[in-house]
Amino acid sequence: MSIRLRNPISMLRSVQYGLDAGTANTLITNVTGDVLLDEPTVIAFDQDAKAPIATGTEAKSYLGKAPERISVVRPIDAGVIVDFEAAKALLRTFLGRVLEGNGARVKLCVVVPLGVTELERRTFEDCCKAAGASKVLLLSAPLAAAIGSGLDIRAPKGRLLLGIGAGLAEASVLCLSDIVLSQSAPLGANAFHAAMMRYFAATRQVAIGENMAEQTTINLASATPAPPATGGRIMTVTGKQSMTGTPCAEEMKEADLAGALDEPLQALVDLVCGVLEKAPAELVADIAETGIHLYGGGAALQGLPEFFEATLKLKTRVAEEPRLASVRGAAAVLRPDLDFKNIIKK
Ligand SMILES: Nc1ncnc2c1ncn2[C@@H]1O[C@H](COP(=O)(O)OP(=O)(O)OP(=O)(O)O)[C@@H](O)[C@H]1O
Ligand SMILES: [Mg+2]
Repeated sequence: MSIRLRNPISMLRSVQYGLDAGTANTLITNVTGDVLLDEPTVIAFDQDAKAPIATGTEAKSYLGKAPERISVVRPIDAGVIVDFEAAKALLRTFLGRVLEGNGARVKLCVVVPLGVTELERRTFEDCCKAAGASKVLLLSAPLAAAIGSGLDIRAPKGRLLLGIGAGLAEASVLCLSDIVLSQSAPLGANAFHAAMMRYFAATRQVAIGENMAEQTTINLASATPAPPATGGRIMTVTGKQSMTGTPCAEEMKEADLAGALDEPLQALVDLVCGVLEKAPAELVADIAETGIHLYGGGAALQGLPEFFEATLKLKTRVAEEPRLASVRGAAAVLRPDLDFKNIIKK
């Protein structure tokens, strides 16, 4: 039997990472915001051995296909850990991959949605520690995204942010390095995918799977109709005929999906209007100038800024690489030279 002792010198070394473990994806960056890990938040277990057999991209490819002996788990839903043991195993694997076997102590700044309870925040912290982190700071997603997008959050200027993740949308008003008010709803990209599935069922009597609904949303859907001159995008959509169960494949144009996402898009507008209604007049006047800032993977939907500009009459910008905005903000907070210490709650 061999006993492996941790190298005492590496135990003294400490590494710091930004972590955003979302409903769909987990991102880890170093303090300068370089992406070290970008994987789906999915883990697969062998039910008999109770051991993980796949994580990330590989585990995601098992979704909807795995035999009964394999359970495929999404342990985080809308910022909440719904399966502690699975989340712990997944984060342990991901951190291990980034650390590459060096036994350094890990300090994390972790993005958490604003709308979660104190208990859910603490569970997130406990899970990261159980997965191997020795110190965990939590940072609210809207603040993280604002910092990661390079917005000047310290100014006495109201800003409206709308985050569209996979499981959650959060509309928040920020001013003077704090969140003045915020509202969340289960309206992330998953709501786009569900609307896409309903659209195909209603208009073509075709059932499409979750992955096809996601691909169709990314490659073909648009929040605003494409100008006829552009011709639009084209994609082959595969599924099965609802009546006969037979497989089908159809080449579709962007214009064929007009209106497919109307319902979740209107719900996002209602979310933003709800926040604006409650915001103090001075801040709303600022927002008329600063506009809406979008972040999160769902914010990359084609035509979304034009849609909000037309509907809400507010200038709309999407963060550069919107999926990465929050984790880059979390990483920036770890840097003493940027002096964000006072915005960390813990
Ligand atoms: N171009 C695009 N158009 C529409 N949706 C997109 C596009 N690119 C990515 N997405 C969607 O963005 C989602 C992932 O976004 P993100 O990584 O911000 O979510 P998350 O952080 O895992 O979720 P949450 O913050 O809700 O817990 C996926 O569902 C993906 O389909
Ligand atoms: Mg997210």
